[in-house]
Amino acid sequence: MAPWYLSIIFLVFAVYSSAAPSPSSTSLSKRLLTKSSLAQVPRGWNLHGTPPRHHTIKLRIGLRQSNFAELERALFQVSDPSHIRYGLHLSKEEVKDLIAPHPETLTLVESWLASHGIDIDSLDRSTAGDWIAVVVPIHQAESMLGADYRTYKHESTGAEIVRVTSYRLPEHLHDHIDVVHPTTMFGGTLRPTVSRTRIRQRDTGAAVDASCSTLTTLKCLQDLYNTAGYKPRAPSKNAYGITGYAGQFANLADLKLFYQQYLPEATNFTFKEVLINGGQNSQNLSQAGVEADFDMQYAGGLTFPTQNIFYSTGGSPPYIPDANSPSNTNEPYQDWLDYMSTLQEDEIPQTIATSYADDEESVPPDYAIRACQGFAQLGARGVSLLFGSGDGGVGSTEGSACFSNDGKNTTVFLPSFPATCPYVTVVGGTTGIPEVAVEFSGGGFSNYFSRPSYQSEVVNSYLQGLGTTYAGLFNSTGRAYPDVAAFSTNFTTIYEGQSELLYGTSAATPTFGAVISLANDALIAANKPPLGFLNPWLYSGGYKALNDITSGSNPGCGTAGFSAGVGWDPVTGFGTPDFQKILAALGLGQ
Ligand SMILES: *[C@@H]1O[C@H](CO)[C@@H](O)[C@H](O)[C@H]1NC(C)=O
Ligand SMILES: *[C@@H]1O[C@H](CO)[C@@H](O)[C@H](O)[C@H]1NC(C)=O
Ligand SMILES: *[C@@H]1O[C@H](CO)[C@@H](O)[C@H](O)[C@H]1NC(C)=O
Ligand SMILES: *[C@@H]1O[C@H](CO)[C@@H](O)[C@H](O)[C@H]1NC(C)=O
Ligand SMILES: *[C@@H]1O[C@H](CO)[C@@H](O)[C@H](O)[C@H]1NC(C)=O
Repeated sequence: MAPWYLSIIFLVFAVYSSAAPSPSSTSLSKRLLTKSSLAQVPRGWNLHGTPPRHHTIKLRIGLRQSNFAELERALFQVSDPSHIRYGLHLSKEEVKDLIAPHPETLTLVESWLASHGIDIDSLDRSTAGDWIAVVVPIHQAESMLGADYRTYKHESTGAEIVRVTSYRLPEHLHDHIDVVHPTTMFGGTLRPTVSRTRIRQRDTGAAVDASCSTLTTLKCLQDLYNTAGYKPRAPSKNAYGITGYAGQFANLADLKLFYQQYLPEATNFTFKEVLINGGQNSQNLSQAGVEADFDMQYAGGLTFPTQNIFYSTGGSPPYIPDANSPSNTNEPYQDWLDYMSTLQEDEIPQTIATSYADDEESVPPDYAIRACQGFAQLGARGVSLLFGSGDGGVGSTEGSACFSNDGKNTTVFLPSFPATCPYVTVVGGTTGIPEVAVEFSGGGFSNYFSRPSYQSEVVNSYLQGLGTTYAGLFNSTGRAYPDVAAFSTNFTTIYEGQSELLYGTSAATPTFGAVISLANDALIAANKPPLGFLNPWLYSGGYKALNDITSGSNPGCGTAGFSAGVGWDPVTGFGTPDFQKILAALGLGQ
């Protein structure tokens, strides 16, 4: 920890910095320029007070990665079946070399920190050195960032966090620091996209419908997606990971009851639990998460006996004001990504599904871009990452009204994040037999990420058909989602010892992921590399192995939403999986 008196120098600096904007001739300019700024306090949060100045805060500084452009190029090449590098996924070391900061970045940032009396030798650094963490008193963070920390309280959860509505950095560091956290990323809105019907039935055994038309079970999904009868051949070499945030953990007693009822041979089957950054796993039945329970029941049930891993990542409110403990940072994706970056090749699951989402506009761009780049690293290492598209149709996945938060408060469609990240595969929802788009299926266009070339042809063609409909309500140059879809209604689940029916793109995501995990099993058994990042394969022909969903729509924001149709659409993407066709497309058909 820096001697406190050194921060005095910095206070002088901060005052000076707000003076005349003349750029100094030295490279170490003292001018602070805005790095990130919010037009308004994010919805749901209210100003609550001022944190005591001597309380500590753990600042995490995301340094510019030296060669992300090359990482992205490698990601697309190793994921593109027509490229000579297809399947040659990057090693941990190769990724590390591409994302390690340039020496100049390190020198400049370290001298900035040293100028604030921070001991460079005591910095906490990520594996590749692209993140630095430092614990400082709030008053020092305020002078470093030219910002005012305040306490904000969440309207519905009562959670308290310490944040700023804008922050600044010395001009010469803008090209070397991507993001500092906690600053303008409020979070607290990250939510599981699963919902429960009001019906709680004790006895679903009698009502199981093998066709999925009214009740969805493991059995009907296996029939629907053509995995019935497939026995995994590489269950110890292949793994299926599920992430959990917002305090969720999966209850083992519920899992056992579920298997007893729906897959008796798996009765004693369980999963590996990984706790990250204070992730919870009390196994107290009344604290288990419905999303986590559900995810593990279907992930495991559809891929049994493939190894399953549940990642429970902490970092959510409440913030407990305590002078001795650094304030809670609430940035779960980054904590999870940090953990994953420490793993060796054989420790990373080939398929990982995530059923949590925020409205894109509630995640500041600098934070969203950096998290998305983290997902690209996992894709480059050969992981198929699946995310739910959100449950608000073209509107908010958080259930808020369709207004922009850019200070203009205009009516707009609200895309969800991480669905808008171009380096992940996004799953929308269907219902009914034959399947049609479900009305809550999140779909739309990013305002942060431009359209990746792998999808430009099909998306442009969809937009041509759409004409000027909804012009101004969405960003026609953005990354469009979802990429694919799966069933999403009336999934029978055991939660807190009882049967429940669940729905949401949360149900679709582990389901689609399970089919991909089985395809990876077949590839591994045939001594081939796993699928890795799916989109270049999907958009260049893999889509032919999916069932195109051609009717239904995703209304929201007072509109009828987008319509599903022949080919790709922003409701169900290319559609739902057909496992046998996927195997055939991969040259593994029987
Ligand atoms: C879900 O199940 C309930 C109760 O069985 C039924 O009323 C409803 O129609 C079902 N919904 C769908 C979309 O299948
Ligand atoms: C589960 O474990 C119990 C106790 O060891 C054993 O009696 C039972 O046969 C096992 N069931 C299965 C399906 O393996
Ligand atoms: C289980 O959780 C409930 C609800 O949070 C709590 O009231 C109860 O005391 C907990 N039980 C145990 C044994 O910790
Ligand atoms: C945005 O506009 C709507 C409708 O005019 C209004 O209800 C809402 O309060 C406004 N929100 C803000 C933050 O101004
Ligand atoms: C539209 O998306 C692009 C990225 O494709 C972005 O640069 C631009 O700022 C977005 N426009 C608005 C109004 O958000």
